[in-house]
Amino acid sequence: MKELQTAIDAARQAGALIREKAFVSKQIDVKSSASDLVTEVDKEAEKIIRRFITSHHPDHVILGEEGVDAGVVAAKEALTNHRVHEHLWIVDPIDGTTNFIHGFPFFCVSIAYAVKQEVVLGVIYDPIKDELFTAEKGKGAWLNGEPIQVSSERTLAESLLASGFPSGDPAGMRQVNTDGILRLSPHVRNIRAGGSAALHLAYVAAGRLTGYWELDLNAWDLAAGAILITEAGGMVTDTIGNPYEIGVRHILATNGSVHVAVKQALAEAGATGF
Ligand code: IPD
Ligand code: CA
Ligand code: CA
Ligand code: CA
Repeated sequence: MKELQTAIDAARQAGALIREKAFVSKQIDVKSSASDLVTEVDKEAEKIIRRFITSHHPDHVILGEEGVDAGVVAAKEALTNHRVHEHLWIVDPIDGTTNFIHGFPFFCVSIAYAVKQEVVLGVIYDPIKDELFTAEKGKGAWLNGEPIQVSSERTLAESLLASGFPSGDPAGMRQVNTDGILRLSPHVRNIRAGGSAALHLAYVAAGRLTGYWELDLNAWDLAAGAILITEAGGMVTDTIGNPYEIGVRHILATNGSVHVAVKQALAEAGATGF
């Protein structure tokens, strides 16, 4: 599918800029709160991606984080308005902006393409490690061109999980999620919170993490990572087990084997976000 090459080239172009600016001081603006930030590099990276997609697919529509007003209400409204389009690109120019600001090298570009509301390809690019994760519906998932698959752990005790804490947090989900972490932590090998939803999902697809869950995310955090995981043999639902679709905000993504166990633990802790 020619759109895959578009996504790869756009992610690499934006990634080159992000890499160049990664460890120098940036202009930081506050969005919805002091923990919801944006830099001039996020905005410039999104412009690069938009220009690239539009030049190759002029009739396609783009939903990009920095093209949407701050806050949950605006994000939901933008998704409702955009998702009806037959050819939709879902773009997060930098996933992990807080890390990018602090020089913590765990952030990425995330680009997905959906046809009639179904994600058919996803690209996640880590410009620091030069790792390109790609997936196409029905064809598989790859890291730098090599096929990847989810990990083989079968129990919570063997699992390395990851989670995170939403930017801004108007709905108080950080507190709810802490309950889930406290519930799971005695039963698992360990839990990480690296600060990039998309990169965590790519790591589940590549078998580096057994699973990942997080509450109150947006379409652009999840779309590319979700198809990476299904194409790598894993499972992606919301935190109560409904199948993934582009409106999901509370995500649970695993290698499949530990899905039910993590879901049950979150339910028992009252930490599904619902
Ligand atoms: C954020 C990251 C982070 C997650 C936040 C997201 P951004 O995206 O994915 O890991 O915890 O909820 O908003 O703002 O850096 O693109
Ligand atoms: Ca953001
Ligand atoms: Ca994001
Ligand atoms: Ca972002």
